[in-house]
Amino acid sequence: MSVYQATTSAPVNIACIKYWGKRDTKLILPTNSSLSVTLDQDHLRSTTTSRADPSFKKDRLWLNGVEEEIKDGGRMATCIQEMKRLRKEVEAKDSSLPKLSGYAVHICSRNNFPTAAGLASSASGFAALVSSLAALYALPATPSELSLIARQGSGSACRSLFGGFVAWQMGFKPDGSDSLAIEVAPREHWPDIHALICVVSDDKKGTSSTSGMQRTVETSALLQHRIAHVVPARMEAITAAILARDFDAFARITMQDSNQFHAVALDTDPPIFYMNDVSRAIIALIVEYNRVSVANGGKLKAAYTYDAGPNAVIYAPKENLKEIVELIINYFPQAEPFKDPFGLFGAAGVQGKVVD
Ligand code: ADP
Ligand code: DP6
Ligand code: CO
Repeated sequence: MSVYQATTSAPVNIACIKYWGKRDTKLILPTNSSLSVTLDQDHLRSTTTSRADPSFKKDRLWLNGVEEEIKDGGRMATCIQEMKRLRKEVEAKDSSLPKLSGYAVHICSRNNFPTAAGLASSASGFAALVSSLAALYALPATPSELSLIARQGSGSACRSLFGGFVAWQMGFKPDGSDSLAIEVAPREHWPDIHALICVVSDDKKGTSSTSGMQRTVETSALLQHRIAHVVPARMEAITAAILARDFDAFARITMQDSNQFHAVALDTDPPIFYMNDVSRAIIALIVEYNRVSVANGGKLKAAYTYDAGPNAVIYAPKENLKEIVELIINYFPQAEPFKDPFGLFGAAGVQGKVVD
């Protein structure tokens, strides 16, 4: 008897221009386009195995060893259903294929980093889910086509279908068929840029991204300004900066957009605080580090960005990483250094990792 099973993994992506707000909560259509970098080392990844079998009674999912309910009409159910639909199209064209679209699936996924702590587990999680089903079903779909489905699991997941520098184009059609991820530049275009992840806290966050951004859409006037007057120009400017490998411009825009995203969270009623005192102290350190460089006639040396949680991601050219890590260890002596494959050390708060 044949076994129909596939395992794939997907890394997280960390946005430089943040997605925060939906215009359609069911289809997960965003209020603005966004842009991110997909991390390419193994530190922050979801690995997912999907199996289809005629003996399975219903679709089931285990996340980090614990079974999670697949709610009817929920995001997980939608993704599985959409993937089965694509498989059905393939089966209709080739009658010799096994009818896997009619079998239930069992899915087992693991994250090698904290889940729901603001380190983008929903992004790697749904990207890994969709790509494992695509492999199981041997679908001829492109990453952009798969991104349309991953998007319906978690918006940020659509960007993890690509490596390197990735844009999620918000699209304009009500059915969402043009709200997808595209590659801005592959990782090899700018190998010099690296990401340092500073895990300030690996606790589950108090306000999920989904509920937080919905509240922002409903209550923040600042969000309306951001989506209409700020993000479109920033998307163009950061794309140009990436294509030109202009770290100064990339860093400036990344930090501005992180700041505005957290300002918009604060402008929500009731306000949402994702950063804590350690997060703010890391910002102060990077600001001072850049200030000294610029005062001495140099350029910006590092860029911080924070998702919906207190953990810092610092983008920097490789030559500055060692200095940044030393600075952080110096100012956050409680940090546990983590040795990375390049032989560098990362640290902040609880633990730190140099990745990418
Ligand atoms: P994060 O900041 O980690 O992305 P979110 O609140 O956006 O936090 O999403 C967390 C949710 O994403 C989890 O509660 C779970 O439903 C889903 N998720 C996380 N990892 C996976 C995975 N590997 N496979 C499927 N779903 C996942
Ligand atoms: C701050 O993609 O987790 O990380 O679509 O509701 O699942 P849902 O939200 P999610 O939101 C991510 C928000 C962010 C910014 C970003 O990744 O662009
Ligand atoms: Co998320």
